[in-house]
Amino acid sequence: MKSKAIRKLDNALRLLKFSMAALVFFAFFRSIGGFSFLLKPENKKVVVVQKQDKPKTEDIFGSDVENGIHIPTGFIAKGGYGIVIQNCITCHSSKIITQNRMDAKTWRKTIKWMQKTQNLWDLGVNEDKIVAYLGKYYAPKKEGRRKALVVEEWYELK
Ligand code: HEC
Repeated sequence: MKSKAIRKLDNALRLLKFSMAALVFFAFFRSIGGFSFLLKPENKKVVVVQKQDKPKTEDIFGSDVENGIHIPTGFIAKGGYGIVIQNCITCHSSKIITQNRMDAKTWRKTIKWMQKTQNLWDLGVNEDKIVAYLGKYYAPKKEGRRKALVVEEWYELK
């Protein structure tokens, strides 16, 4: 014979198990759409979630990129090249840029010079991005020193 207390505990446990099972079933039922299969299709709520995120500037031109180069302009399609396209090829060819090599400081000077003398507009926060892009991908080429000669055999001058 179980004591009264044990029986009470048994009942409580049974209730707990039952409610857990009900909860799991309910969650599953909801996840497969509940009773919505009874509704006519036009009564179903259609939730259209549209992504409102603006594409990054770099992505706008992505379709014209081949082998890492933006074909129409010749720019290296990395980092902020989209901003460069938007700001730097209205007045002159992109070639004037891609054929140049400068460090970041000199790129900034060139921009300041165009602003002073060529009516280039204030680039705002984009100036740093443009300078960073140009300073990185259109930096002076490092030629490096030639490798030291390896002399295998000395000969004597006579
Ligand atoms: C408002 C017009 C305009 C815009 C926009 C413009 N430039 Fe220029 N830029 C000029 C002019 C004009 C010249 C001189 C062209 C020439 O000498 O034939 C020039 C020359 C240059 C030169 C050559 C400088 C030299 O020493 O010969 C470079 C490099 C250059 N621009 C880069 C840029 C970059 C980078 C941007 C974007 C930030 C840009 N330009 C945007 C007008 C502009």
